[in-house]
Amino acid sequence: MTMRVLVTGGAGLIGVGLVERLLAEGHRVVVLDNLFRGRMDHLNHVMGLEAFDFVEGDVTSEADLQRCAELLGGVDLVHHLAAINGTKWFHEAARQVIEVNINGTLVALSMAERWGARFVLASSPEAFGDPVAMPLQEVNASVFPSAEAHQRFSYGASKYLDEIAVQHAVRGGLDARIVRPFNAYGHRMVSDAYGQVIGMLFGAVQQQVPMTVHGDGSQTRSFTHLDDVVEGFYLAGALEVGQDGSRLAGSAFNIGSTEETTVLALAQAVNATVGSKAVDIVLGGGYHGDALRRVPACERALVQLGWVAKTSLEEGLRLMWARLHSTP
Ligand SMILES: NC(=O)c1ccc[n+]([C@@H]2O[C@H](COP(=O)([O-])OP(=O)(O)OC[C@H]3O[C@@H](n4cnc5c(N)ncnc54)[C@H](O)[C@@H]3O)[C@@H](O)[C@H]2O)c1
Repeated sequence: MTMRVLVTGGAGLIGVGLVERLLAEGHRVVVLDNLFRGRMDHLNHVMGLEAFDFVEGDVTSEADLQRCAELLGGVDLVHHLAAINGTKWFHEAARQVIEVNINGTLVALSMAERWGARFVLASSPEAFGDPVAMPLQEVNASVFPSAEAHQRFSYGASKYLDEIAVQHAVRGGLDARIVRPFNAYGHRMVSDAYGQVIGMLFGAVQQQVPMTVHGDGSQTRSFTHLDDVVEGFYLAGALEVGQDGSRLAGSAFNIGSTEETTVLALAQAVNATVGSKAVDIVLGGGYHGDALRRVPACERALVQLGWVAKTSLEEGLRLMWARLHSTP
């Protein structure tokens, strides 16, 4: 069945991939994005399509969201991705992060209720705060450090409150689902200091300057290729019920690779991918409150969505390097 889909934050890293996937499945799509970090040129290849429209506007504005609904002629599904993401912002612009990430979700959620649309929230593993127990199960408790220490959790705590708002809406009857992507990476990543680690490492290669790895590089992450992350979002929005027949409203899905890698090993893997363009690796810097370890358990995604990460880190880095030269 063709759906009328609103993607907030659809000019961003995950959003563009999701838009491509939704259009390929024959759905009608409108993107709302204020281009805080998203880029218009990443959507050039779909701009002329009849099934696609772009609205430059703010997700905290009911009027901008309503404009999208009018273009779609009603909304069946909202993929709510608009947020301020990127660790440097969490510290430098903590109040703006809180403002956009919480108010944007509250407004988008209310509009979805008004339209009778299904809702998918882009949450984050950062919604768990700084937990010790790993792997992160879907229902693990969230643990946050004192706000005096640093502002990192302007982001994670806003995603935690977003999840609470969504669960509250589910109790009120909304069909809403939650996706937590674990370190998505792909060729459209921001490569400057406001970006995320893999984008910055490839950025260093492209400029032929040394790569900086924070701390001693022993912190681990689970890097998940964009194609896998997009598939997780797509399934979370498209399925009526779980693959096992379960109800999906109120389910939060960890969408992540379980291949845990140190950031130093990641930098070495990027160098191995780019061959003769390899650059020096320099250790240093970093941010207060950065997690030492992050690895998901994704049982729920497997059982309910039939989702599992398919792309190894080696293959994903190779794909990213190839697409950096060939795709918009
Ligand atoms: N990339 C990851 O690894 C990751 C991990 C966990 C969670 N997430 C979440 O997934 C979602 C998408 O992430 P992404 O990596 O594509 O980030 P991104 O920054 O590339 O995309 C977010 C988009 O939201 C837009 N935006 C920001 N403020 C807005 C506003 N007020 N109104 C309208 N648009 C606004 C930005 O311009 C950008 O295009 C975000 O909610 C993010 O928090 C991402």
